[in-house]
Amino acid sequence: MKAIELNDYRMAFEDQGKGIPIVFIHGYPLNSELWRPQIESLSNDFRVIAPDLRGHGKSQAPPGTYNMELLASDCNELLDYLKIKEKIIICGLSMGGYIAFAFHRTFRHRLRGMIFTATKASADTPDQKENREKSILSANERGIDFIIDSMLPKLLSPINSLNNPGLVDRVKNIMRDTSIEGIIGDLRGMKERPDSIPYLKEIQEPVLIIQGQDDQIIPMVETQIMQTHIPNCDLKLIPGAGHLPNLEKPEEFNQLVRLFLNNFLENKNFFIKLS
Ligand code: MLT
Repeated sequence: MKAIELNDYRMAFEDQGKGIPIVFIHGYPLNSELWRPQIESLSNDFRVIAPDLRGHGKSQAPPGTYNMELLASDCNELLDYLKIKEKIIICGLSMGGYIAFAFHRTFRHRLRGMIFTATKASADTPDQKENREKSILSANERGIDFIIDSMLPKLLSPINSLNNPGLVDRVKNIMRDTSIEGIIGDLRGMKERPDSIPYLKEIQEPVLIIQGQDDQIIPMVETQIMQTHIPNCDLKLIPGAGHLPNLEKPEEFNQLVRLFLNNFLENKNFFIKLS
């Protein structure tokens, strides 16, 4: 794993392979290890970049509110550091999707296409905001294990939670690598995030939405709102997967990403240089 010094912390990241850059942005409370099946397989054909967001994994954890714009700007700084000039594909899972919306709002000139997985465009409801506050209190008082215990049953599809203890342990270990500053920073940032539904029509780049059919965190109606309002968008459902389809059904997920990217290659207009 590599690392760079950003303004106020050291960011760790994976950067493997050559070709079209795909930036994979993990969700809460995870890290780049979430993308291990993509790093291992897709890096044979593409350049796979996966940061540990501030407060997560091997990155340092400055205290504060990690609003989505700040996290998007961290990702932009990483691309500057890597001197990436050609347009990229961004792939965000759940909170990573919220960050991808923020990235599009500020850095759309860097984007050629987007992949949203297990995410939604709406802001938090008042009840959800209240729950974020409760989780902040619990994280402070009871630590990461409380957060793991409350989230783990919802992350995987019921069938994977029941029949795949290896996967359950793997996800638990990824979550355990999140600092309390990271948990609190994310919760505050997600609570403040804007409603991106009115913004969806601005996303003119090609978009792929990938959703696990048994996602217990993102209701299908949220996915349909995205599909309806993004002009150039395709939705693919993965049966037998929950909120982490890339880990639960890696082959299916990777195949969808490959198909999406191969379409760009066939159109032969992918390597447009940034001005
Ligand atoms: C995530 O998976 O990133 C979070 O569950 C998203 C959220 O809490 O809104």
